[in-house]
Amino acid sequence: MDLIVARNRTDLLKARGDGPVALVPTMGALHEGHRSLIREARARAAQVVVSIFVNPLQFGPHEDFSRYPRTFDADLEVCEVEGVDVVFAPSAEDMYAPDRQVSVRAGEMGRIVEGAARPGHFDGMLTVVLKLFNLVRPDVAVFGQKDAQQLAMIRRMVADLDLDIEIIGAPTVREPDGLALSSRNRYLSAPDRQVALALSRALAAGAERATPSKVLAAARAVLDEAGPALDLDYLVLVDPATFAEVDESHSGAAVLAVAARVGATRLIDNVVVSLGR
Ligand code: PAF
Repeated sequence: MDLIVARNRTDLLKARGDGPVALVPTMGALHEGHRSLIREARARAAQVVVSIFVNPLQFGPHEDFSRYPRTFDADLEVCEVEGVDVVFAPSAEDMYAPDRQVSVRAGEMGRIVEGAARPGHFDGMLTVVLKLFNLVRPDVAVFGQKDAQQLAMIRRMVADLDLDIEIIGAPTVREPDGLALSSRNRYLSAPDRQVALALSRALAAGAERATPSKVLAAARAVLDEAGPALDLDYLVLVDPATFAEVDESHSGAAVLAVAARVGATRLIDNVVVSLGR
């Protein structure tokens, strides 16, 4: 079947099949990480819909909305190769009525960790994801573990608002040297990219330890070695479902999450750590 490109909600409605639908929400600039999400989706439903929409609501006033990479033609090729059935690529005007009033509030969980660094980000992200769920009406939706707090917030929204959608978290895809794939990696200069490797190295060092203080100390030591070229935003060890910081007695899974600025580029990464082994 040929790829259908739906540029508005009317076209989307026409393109939707009768069988199970899997949605992969994206902001475009598709890379190997997105391909892995699409493959997860493909394995789960008869029809795969990929949305491509750079959502203005989830960017702060001083963030990279205007310079966020937009590579629509290349994205369509990726979708074609991966056997996507429908690309939904609405305009901002089609998504948001000028007189809109109601939106999703992410709550306290949306104001900690990444939410503290990016006020309003999770409100905007959840608002667009809920709208995409309502427009596409998927049975399954696939998100990357790379944005671990985003994934946890979406699971929270699905539980709190009784949405009948299965949420799949797909593993982070990394370059051979460990750098987590991200659409923002293309902003990195060659020297910045070397500095950025400290993030995944720090997470790997932390994941070898089994108590919260040792995990954090091991990761912190690697980040410190990177020097002033790496401007650390946060390094936290949190509960995977609530993103509350874990205390020293915590055992079982925890997420070690890091955010840092390298040059003008803000990067995030995380790894699941097994504590109390
Ligand atoms: O992860 C992203 O690309 C975005 O936050 C999402 C989920 C597509 C919502 O705009």
